[in-house]
This record gives sequence, C-alpha cells and structure tokens, in this order.
Amino acid sequence: MATIQMLVGLLLLSDLVESVSRENFKTCNQSSFCKRHRRLRSDASPYVVLMETMQIQPSRIEVQILNTKNNVRLLMQVTAIKDNTARLKINELNPLRKRYEIPVGDVLVGEPKTQDMKVLVRSGSSISLGFEENKILITSRPFRVDFINKEEPVVSINAQGLLKFEHSRERNPPQNEGEEEPKEPPMENQADKKKKEGEKKGNEENDANEPETWEETFKDFHDSKPYGPSSVGVDVSFRGFKYVYGIPEHAESMALKTTKSGDPYRLFNLDVFGYELYNPMALYGSVPVMLAHNEKQTVGVFWHNAAESWVDISFNTVDKVADIVGRGRNERPQTNTHWISESGVIDVFIMMGPTAHDVFYQYAQLTGTTNLPPMFAISYHQCRWNYNDQGDVENVDANFDIYDIPYDVIWLDIDHADGKRYFTWDARKFSNPIEMVNNIASKGRKMVTIVDPHLKVDGNYRINKEAKDQGLYVKNKDGNDYEGWCWSETSSWPDFTNPKVRQWWASKFLFDDYKGSTADLFTWNDMNEPAVFNGPEITLHKDAKHMGGFENSDLHNIYGYYMQQATAEGQLLRSNNKDRPFVLTRAFFAGSQRWGAAWTGDNAAEWSHLKVSIPMLLSLSLVGITHSGADVGGFFNNPDPELLTRWYQAAAFQPFFRAHAHEFSKRREPYLQPKKNMQVIRDAIRARYSYLPLWYTLFYEGEQSGAPPMRPLWVEYPTDKRTFKMDDEYLIGTSLLVKPITEKGQTGTHVYFPGKDQLWYDIASYNSYKGGQSTYVEAPLSKIPVFQKGGSIIPRKMRIRRSSGLMKHDPFTLVVCLDKSGSATGSLYVDDYNSFNYRKGEHLLRSFSFQHNEFHSRSGDKFCSFSTKEWVEKIVIIGLSARPTKAILNVKGVESSLQLSYSSDNNQVIIRKPGVNIAKDFSIKLS
Ligand code: GLC
Repeated sequence: MATIQMLVGLLLLSDLVESVSRENFKTCNQSSFCKRHRRLRSDASPYVVLMETMQIQPSRIEVQILNTKNNVRLLMQVTAIKDNTARLKINELNPLRKRYEIPVGDVLVGEPKTQDMKVLVRSGSSISLGFEENKILITSRPFRVDFINKEEPVVSINAQGLLKFEHSRERNPPQNEGEEEPKEPPMENQADKKKKEGEKKGNEENDANEPETWEETFKDFHDSKPYGPSSVGVDVSFRGFKYVYGIPEHAESMALKTTKSGDPYRLFNLDVFGYELYNPMALYGSVPVMLAHNEKQTVGVFWHNAAESWVDISFNTVDKVADIVGRGRNERPQTNTHWISESGVIDVFIMMGPTAHDVFYQYAQLTGTTNLPPMFAISYHQCRWNYNDQGDVENVDANFDIYDIPYDVIWLDIDHADGKRYFTWDARKFSNPIEMVNNIASKGRKMVTIVDPHLKVDGNYRINKEAKDQGLYVKNKDGNDYEGWCWSETSSWPDFTNPKVRQWWASKFLFDDYKGSTADLFTWNDMNEPAVFNGPEITLHKDAKHMGGFENSDLHNIYGYYMQQATAEGQLLRSNNKDRPFVLTRAFFAGSQRWGAAWTGDNAAEWSHLKVSIPMLLSLSLVGITHSGADVGGFFNNPDPELLTRWYQAAAFQPFFRAHAHEFSKRREPYLQPKKNMQVIRDAIRARYSYLPLWYTLFYEGEQSGAPPMRPLWVEYPTDKRTFKMDDEYLIGTSLLVKPITEKGQTGTHVYFPGKDQLWYDIASYNSYKGGQSTYVEAPLSKIPVFQKGGSIIPRKMRIRRSSGLMKHDPFTLVVCLDKSGSATGSLYVDDYNSFNYRKGEHLLRSFSFQHNEFHSRSGDKFCSFSTKEWVEKIVIIGLSARPTKAILNVKGVESSLQLSYSSDNNQVIIRKPGVNIAKDFSIKLS
C-alpha cells in the first residue's frame, strides 16, 4: 500500500519536472491586504501629526498622528539609536487588542541603545531634530518624516503618502464598518479641502466594507479572520539612490528590480517546489532589510515585522518629492519602496551608514551577528536524501578516504528516523548509531541528522505524546491541536514562539533524551516555514493560534527562526555551553544568523540555478545571514559531470559548502564522477581546505563587526559604478576575488578586476592582472578563476588531510601578494576551533605585514593568549621587484638564516621553514 509519503514523493517528482505550481501561491491581487495597500494613491495621505501632543524626551519624540478620515489616532515614537541609527515606530494609540510585536531579546538582541537628540527648529507644523551628523525632520501636514545625513536627505517616510494603518475594531459596527467620518474634523483650509476630494477618489478607507477584510478564502482554504483587517504599510523613499539590495529570500538578481509591472517582492516563508528564477515570489526565508547604495553612501532600512509582507519598488530618475530641506526639486535619482505587512506595528530602523561596513555594524548592533562557527561547519559537507543505513554511511566515508577527498560532515535525511519520528532511529537501518557516529568522529569528522518541526501524531511516539500532554502544539482556530500533513503523515507543530516550548525542545537534545546522539552529532532543521502539505500555500492556516492568542498571520515569518534558536539552545544545553552549536535551517528571519547557517532550499541541477546562487547568497550576506550556501549540484534532477564540477568550484568559494541531492536523483558523490571531473572536484574541495584559515578569520571578524565573508564588489569599491549590479563576481573578505564559471562549455571568462591602482594575482599561476579593467581569463574545466589582491597576505594550510579536525595542529603557509609599492598586510585568527573558550580570551589574532623587504608577524590583540602547536612552515612572496639572496629570521632578537628559493616566473620567492610557532612575534628580512 502506498503511504502518503510515497504519494507526496511522486507528486513532488512530477512537480519537479515541471516548474513551480504558481496557482498554489497567492499573488498580491489574491491577498486582500496587499491589494488594499497597493491601490492607495500617492499624494493623498489622510494622516496628520498632532503637533500639540508632542512629548520631547532626550532621545525620543512621542507624538500622535490622526487619520483624518476616520479620526483614529496613532502614536508615533521617533528615537535616536547609538551608531547613526534612527527608529520610527507607529502603533495605535488605543488598540482594542494588543497588536503583535516581536519580544525584545528575540530578534532585537536587546533594547537598542539610545542617544540624545537636539531640537534644532520647532514650529507649529514641523520639528527638526539633530543627532550625530543627522537630522530628522517631522512634518505635520501631511505626515512625513525625512532623515537627512550631512545635509543630504537619504530616507523619507510617507513622502509618497502611502501610510495606511488598519486599526483594531469590532466586527459589524453599524454602517461603514467603523470608518465613520471624523466628528471634529481638524481645521481645514481650501487646499486641504481640495486634497480631501482627491483622497476620496484615491485613498478610499471604505476597504473595511469589502467582504474579504473579515473573512478570506484562497482556493479551498478559509481564513476566519476573527479580528478583521489589521494590516500596516508605508512608503520608504531612498533619496539619491538608484540601487537597492536585500529583502531575501528571492531567486533574484542582487540589485532589486522595479515591481511596477508585476507583483511586489513577497516576504512569506514558504516551501516552494521547483522555484522559478528571477521573480518576486516568496521563498523559504524572509529578512525585511534593504540596503541602498550610491557612490557616496550606503544606508539601510530594517522593517521589524514578522507578518507576511510585500515590498514594491519603483525608480525615478528625478527626485519627485519636493525637497523639504529647501532646494526644491533636484536631479537626484530616487528609489521609492512601499512596505506592506498583514499585521503588527510599523517599526522601522533607519541605518544611516554612511559606508556599507557601517550599515553591517549598525544592523549587527540591533540583531546580532553570525556566531563564529566551529571549523567543521565551514568545511565541506556531504549530504543526500538519503544515506540509507549504517553500511551506506561507512561506504561513503571510506570512499572519500580511498579517493583522498576531504570532507567534514556526513548528513542523514528524514529516513534515518523511525517512520520520520524525529529524535529516533530506524533500528533496522541504524542499529548502533553511537558506534557509527564515533567511527566517523575518529577521523575528526561529524554527523548531522535532520530534525523537522512536524511531529507525527502517534500515541506511541514519545516526543509527540509529551508535546500533546503538555499542550505545546500550535492550535487551530477552535483551540485544538493543529493537525496537518507533512513527511510524517498526520502531524502537529510545536509552538516555538513560546519560550517554554523552546525550553522543552532544547531538552530533547540532551544525550539521555536523544538516544544515539553524541557530542559529534549536529542538526538540520528543515520544513520549518513551516511546510504543511495540505495547508493553504503549503503552510499553516493563517488563523492557527500561537502563544498569547496571536495568529499565525501575526508572526508567520518568525516560526523557523524560533525553531532554529530552540535547536541551537538544545546543543548548548547538552554541552553545558561549552561547545559551539551547529544548526542548518531552511526558514529564517532577521537575526537568524545568531543561531546558525541557512541554505537556499530545493534548487535544481541546472546551470541557471548555479548562476542565481551567487546573487542569492550575496543578498543573504548583505542582510546578516552570512553563513549560507546552495545545494551543490542542484537538489532536483541530475547534473552532468561538467555542471557538477563547476558547481563544486563555485561553492568551494562560498560560505556554506554542502552537496545535497533529491532521493530520486542518481548517486553523485565526487568519487563516482568520471576521473577527470573527480580530480577537478577533489582539487576544488582541497582548495577550500587550504583556505580554511582565511574563512575562519573572516567569520571571526564578522562576529565582531557584522561584515559578511562573501561580499559584493561595491562593498569594498563603493565608488565604482561598474560593480553596483554585478551578479557574477564577488569578494571573499577583501583579499580574494571570485568569478565562478556558470555556463556550459565555457572555457574562459571576462573578469572585472576592481581598483584602479590595484594588482590581482591568479591563485594558481600567480599571473598578475591590473585593476580597473576587464580582462579575458582562460578557464578550462580544471580552473577556478580566483585572484588574490596585491597588498594582501592570506594564511593557508597546505597539508590537506581527511578532515579539518585532523588539520588542527598543521602549520601555515602565508601567501604574500605585493601591491605596486611592494607592501602587503593580512591577519589570522586562531583558537581551538570548537569551543567557546575563545570568548574568555583563549585565542590569537595575528597581524602580518610586509614592507621594505621585511616581513613581520605581530600580535593583533594584546588581550588574548592561546597556546597551539600550529607553526609557520612557509612564506610565499609574489611580486618582489628584485631577487633576494638572503633571508634572516629574527625571533626575540635571535637571528638565523633561512632557506630561500626563487622562481623568475612571477618573481615568486619561497622562504622555507621559518619554523616559528604561530603565537610568536617574528620578522624576516630579505636582502
Ligand atoms: C526538503 C528539503 C530537502 C530534503 C527533503 C527531505 O525538500 O528542502 O533538502 O532533502 O525535504 O527531507
């Protein structure tokens, strides 16, 4: 008898040959709140600021806003936040029912630190406030707020007049559904009257009369909407900006496009089979953060709202909004965006930059950074749906060794568990999981099991029983446990929005509870949008109930966030906060970076999917989800050896590096590939291992600063317009430039080398290229176009072993590529690669420099110390103008002579065996 899973599997397969079933997912027109907001007309805002209600505190202004159409009052707070950030919050003054707000400490790491503002000018119709180099100008009629940085307006709110705040109300009040005319209309002049006429035509507030504001049906799914309409929306204009980025997750270019002729970009965590490329449809995760960049400045906006959201974008070549700071219209380009959420409040953070790195830092102060991953997590991962049993795992593991291909983690998908009952094992296939994990771990490797949120409704399944008995499940609208289908057939979903549920879930990872787990077993959270196969749009019903009586429609996008948090906390609990957790998630939200890595879900084995993985990962990187990757090879279908090879080459230089494949796809482990491809894939994986010290250092720096390891070129070359929408090239930190090959049969590519006076060196041949121009570079199958920046020093490990764990004590090779003046700098971060001891100062930060023929290694942080066996084996110097004959090592004043070799090809100097422990200061003088 076919099980539901098999049926679903077959359905899936038929789906994957086709593309996405679009009819499963709403368009804006099929979503009543999106439609209501989208039809608002510009320049007809009914909202005015009641200046007389203004309360001025040192760091905050509080003032009421009146909707002149229905007399409903809102409360606005404008706050100056430390580090060049402002916050604008609008809620109802007197809501009938508390509107959902994400608890402080969850997405926001804490209450943001404020700073004082000065009142600069105040009149009856406006007020201007100053902090740092910024001004905030609040205008009363119509309501509008401008954020001005160094006299340039950069962000304006409600300049297009699209604010709409659907207040809470009772159902069926007499007539007009509560949209009564104001009893005491505020004073009006003729202009206002005229404007009101316009409003009647445009911004109709009679929406509440529409049947779908109180109940809504999509396909056969009914949303009971007991609280009626509750959406919020407003326009955000980026003044002087032509390029905006972010708001993942979409299979889209990095520079976002106008949405004029189609749907807005949708943010609603969904499981989308066989997703289409280059369109605004929602995918698995949502980060409502947008960055805008021009040659002078980068700014960002964070829309702190977890409900389903849509974002419209349009571009103007001319700033249409009369310039409120007194210059009239001007010729600056402008990007107008319109943010619409189904529920919640308006809570916007404006991050004023002025550089991209400043915005990363400002956003990091709000939502935290990617915690430094353990070393294995940034190494290579081998996954497939499924590795079937213990023998299969042993065999794959052994083959990697036979073919001399390193890997760190082998993954088990849903069928490892007994009937998809997560936290259990199918004993027929995995009779001794502890022994299996220990065998893998004996080579410095790790394992991951999948733990999905749908728990099988089965009285004999302990985890389900506990959740049911303790009332931990999401409820349906009638208050019973919500039930739906997923991999485990009829299932229920823990309400991860509840801290008690998260605590319970965390305790399921204790070794005593999760039998067969060990400290070397980590977790993969999938289907956590959550996916409900028989639910509306393949997810929970909107009127499903969470803690506090909030509906899924209030907080949909944060469910996966909380699940990953609870899982990471489980791993912390089991190690008593000693070891760093590792959890991969498919659904995510702003701040998910604090709980682990994310991947781009079910892509396909097509060249176009390889290509789009670059802008998708760049978009994630720009908004904090920095440890991210795409399934190598493509999840659905079968890549040919060329595609698979090129995919490995690209992903070896991307943050999260994991091969994965659908259960119906052919086996495709690297050692099964034709010999030539296997060798090239092996080289790519080995290259990843050789650069692990660089990746690790970047992740450490990212934990401090919020900067992503994978970066668009414009982040480092902010004035270079050619890079603003570059989707096919990127940087790793500042020192590696990567241009993956993403087309079939391609054997060369034009590489754009940024930086006018910059030199770039091919990492394999050390051929050099001049910056500020595009050059054709040969790239036969064996070649990954990757270049090291002249002026950089990159630490590498060249003794590649079976896993990063086995390379722990191995020595470093330092690759010094000189700039035009013969200098270079670099850094290296070292710790135990696994525990939290580094936070107690047990780590090293080394700072390298080369100048005037002298190399120096110094401590980059006096407040830390760590003893390690790692030492310096080799220093390679590229680009010296004259051949040196002598190298004198100096450690604490003791001098010795070192062996030196020189190749006239690219003036390559190799200094062998300085032999100094990496923790020690030393210098080497060449002459
Ligand atoms: C989902 C995941 C995929 C996984 C499969 C089975 O489709 O995205 O990675 O292999 O479920 O668990």
